[in-house]
Amino acid sequence: MILNNLKKQDPKIYRAVIGEIRRQQEELVLIASENYSSQNSLEVMGTPLSNKYSEGYPGKRYYAGNKFIDQVEQEAIDRAKKLFGAEHANVQPHSGSQANQAVYLALLKPGDKVLGLDLGSGGHLTHGSKVNASGKIYEFHSYGVDPKTEKLDYDQIEKIALEIKPKLIVCGATAYPFKINFKKFRQIADKAGSYLMADIAHIAGLVVAGLHPHPFPHADVVTTTTHKTLRGPRSGLILCKKNDRFDLEGRADLATKIDRAVFPGLQGGPLDHVIAAKAIIFKEAMRADFRKYQQRILKNTQAMVNEFKKENVRLVGGGSENHLILMDLSDLQVGSTKIQNALEEAGIHLNRNSIPFDKRSPFDPSGLRLGTAAITTRGFREKESALVAQMIIEAIKNWENKSKLLEIKKRVKELCKKFPIYSNLK
Ligand SMILES: Cc1ncc(COP(=O)(O)O)c(C=O)c1O
Repeated sequence: MILNNLKKQDPKIYRAVIGEIRRQQEELVLIASENYSSQNSLEVMGTPLSNKYSEGYPGKRYYAGNKFIDQVEQEAIDRAKKLFGAEHANVQPHSGSQANQAVYLALLKPGDKVLGLDLGSGGHLTHGSKVNASGKIYEFHSYGVDPKTEKLDYDQIEKIALEIKPKLIVCGATAYPFKINFKKFRQIADKAGSYLMADIAHIAGLVVAGLHPHPFPHADVVTTTTHKTLRGPRSGLILCKKNDRFDLEGRADLATKIDRAVFPGLQGGPLDHVIAAKAIIFKEAMRADFRKYQQRILKNTQAMVNEFKKENVRLVGGGSENHLILMDLSDLQVGSTKIQNALEEAGIHLNRNSIPFDKRSPFDPSGLRLGTAAITTRGFREKESALVAQMIIEAIKNWENKSKLLEIKKRVKELCKKFPIYSNLK
């Protein structure tokens, strides 16, 4: 049993934590941006590394006492560079959003033009949404997907880029089930005279496993979260080339600009306990079994795609080439919020999502997004993934039938029991 003191001293928080552990153990995590990080990664985040202030970078700190923190951060940097084949790494961003904002701060001035993927086509809030700092500070323009194929149309993106001449082009997505052609984006960025940033938050695990095209050498800067397919702690990471392509005299290199933007530009002290967890998962991701894990993610996604197709569920773009699937439920004539809630009652967690050219509002859209990274971590293979797809279909068909949803929940629990996670946390 963990947290014995907390149980006595703060039972309210204790009960909520235990409830959450149980939920993760007994129910199905299909949120495409979630995963179960390793035991070592979780444990190191509960250590006194959390107590240290270490503003600055290894060897150049503002406060004393950073001998061991320097060792941790330098190791995390070296591993990140090796894992991603990057010339420079900044491991301090607290999250994916912070990583993106730091890149903007490094490369742009307020009001500069940026081109990113439209939210409705799968872009992230930090890719220029009006409600996000990115959209308030910079002049964001957007490209979308082709209305017929629902995939990126590079000719169209080039046309928009040449019209706008953005200082920065952002590629990468939060809800796009297909491969991204970074080479094409580089060609477009070169023609438009733009920097290229690739936000690989979702696909980072597939990228380092060689199962998705690599953003380097095409992108100037790569940002990612570390907690999705990469299976690490909740955090962010920036990777970049050393030199700035637009500073021909080589006065300010790109790496220095990025570091200054993260600290002191945007953040204060780094979260050293989380940086240690990042170092741990970068090492895990270099192992051969990590590649196998990523291969299984792709196989499991295909198993679910096949099951959905058998039942004539329309999938955005007709399928998937990565870890995620976007279902189009517009025929149901009910917003997907109610469907998301019904699935939650059945112990199946995924999220409502807009589909391209959605006729409904983003608050109650027509789509559902799901991903297979977490169920693959718990050991599911194609057989179990197909079973999960069948249960999802059954729950959708019976979304108003409480007793049916409860019956599915029992089956979900039985299935999860056979594939325990964190079995030491009882
Ligand atoms: C493509 C993309 N970029 C950035 C982020 C932001 O990450 P975080 O939630 O860690 O700020 C996400 C999160 O889902 C994402 O999907």
